[in-house]
Amino acid sequence: MEKLVVKGGKKLKGEIKVNGAKNAAVAIIPAVLLASKETVVRNLPHISDTRLLVDILKKIGAKCEFVGDILSVSDTKINEYKFEFDEVSKMRASYYFIGALLGRYRKVELPLPGGCNLGSRPIDQHIKAFEMLGAAVKIEHGLIKVEAKKLVGTKIYLDVVSVGATINTMLAAVLAQGETIIENVAKEPHVVDVADFLNKMGAKVQGAGTDIIKIEGVEKLGGCTHTVISDQIEAGTYMVAAAISDGDITIKNINPKHMESITAKLREANVEIIEIKDTIRVVGKGELKGINVKTLPHPGFPTDMQSQMGALLSIANGTSMITETIWSNRFKYTDELNRMGANIKAEGNVAVIKGVEKLTGAKVKAPDLRGGVALVLAGLVAEGETEVSEIEHIDRGYEEIEVKLNSLGANIRRIES
Ligand code: EPU
Repeated sequence: MEKLVVKGGKKLKGEIKVNGAKNAAVAIIPAVLLASKETVVRNLPHISDTRLLVDILKKIGAKCEFVGDILSVSDTKINEYKFEFDEVSKMRASYYFIGALLGRYRKVELPLPGGCNLGSRPIDQHIKAFEMLGAAVKIEHGLIKVEAKKLVGTKIYLDVVSVGATINTMLAAVLAQGETIIENVAKEPHVVDVADFLNKMGAKVQGAGTDIIKIEGVEKLGGCTHTVISDQIEAGTYMVAAAISDGDITIKNINPKHMESITAKLREANVEIIEIKDTIRVVGKGELKGINVKTLPHPGFPTDMQSQMGALLSIANGTSMITETIWSNRFKYTDELNRMGANIKAEGNVAVIKGVEKLTGAKVKAPDLRGGVALVLAGLVAEGETEVSEIEHIDRGYEEIEVKLNSLGANIRRIES
């Protein structure tokens, strides 16, 4: 088990490049199985989630290599439809194998997915969509078994705006007969990226990024070369690193349009943000102002930036309020921040944050991926040393977080517990 030890007090300065988007990558890796020819995916982040998914691809018989940030898949024929490996239940995104294998091979069995404990994480909308396309779905002994003689396009209305259900329905529908219309879909940049990837393979997906996606089923998908978009949440995390440390960071390789809600909220909190083409410069103005934040599906403020924002607002002037509308249990990090001297009262889906003058280093535990990174951000400004344990959560989503932050002047060590 490893820990990150953060010595606070440095203003972060310099330039940083963002990796490929985790939440696009974790869908695109299973989706390569839809292609009948070679596929190359570039700009994949080297994080434990992507490595696990590539291991699963190999275990079920696909021939592929993951070197640097490139995944090359030379053969997508598989020899198993049932996979019960530990890797599958460890991560949420393994559910994309259901859509991909159902789409291509009409059959799949795997353990119900795991992932960060953010509260109840049902997959009823995924199941509804698979069934409406013609599949039979059974849950037995912890496994989800999905099978179809044929898949036929239809109109599917998602009851909740869900990234996972939107993507999984696209994966299952691209090789279905006829037209599928998915209404009330998620519009996140990574949903659009997955649709772009599918279209490069020959799929006919229209409307990604709007409320309705239309898919004209095709008989076969070929291979393609695709470059994954930059990670909006990694970029947002480094924006907060600049703001919380009163520093000056230029984030390269990012689409400022994807960052609008985060940029708007940071500006409201009195942080200077300058956008030039595909870079964003974030400059601290000395004093942070308390603000209210409400998480919403894209283009609203992303839930995956809520914890980082909580860390920032813990040292802002005045009182802030965060309302979390996506997950029922995403405030666990606030207890840890309070151990560092923050004054946060979280109840139900609301956290009230009274800004304090300073945080002090303490031993804290990463409760989940984004909550964990929020503690690292808090450590950057805390007096003394902050020891963040259970960082395997952070490694699921951030490539070499300490190396990147140290390149900006932070003082973070990774040690064995
Ligand atoms: N929901 C349902 N039924 C479903 C699916 C979702 O009720 O069938 C509900 C969920 O309980 C939640 C809401 O709908 O309240 C949104 O869930 P969504 O399906 O959008 O989440 P997800 O696909 O499981 C992805 C990201 C999360 C991110 C959410 C929201 C991946 C692998 N995970 O999860 O990312 O928080 O979308 O944007 O793409 C993270 O990166 O830290 C992370 C947790």
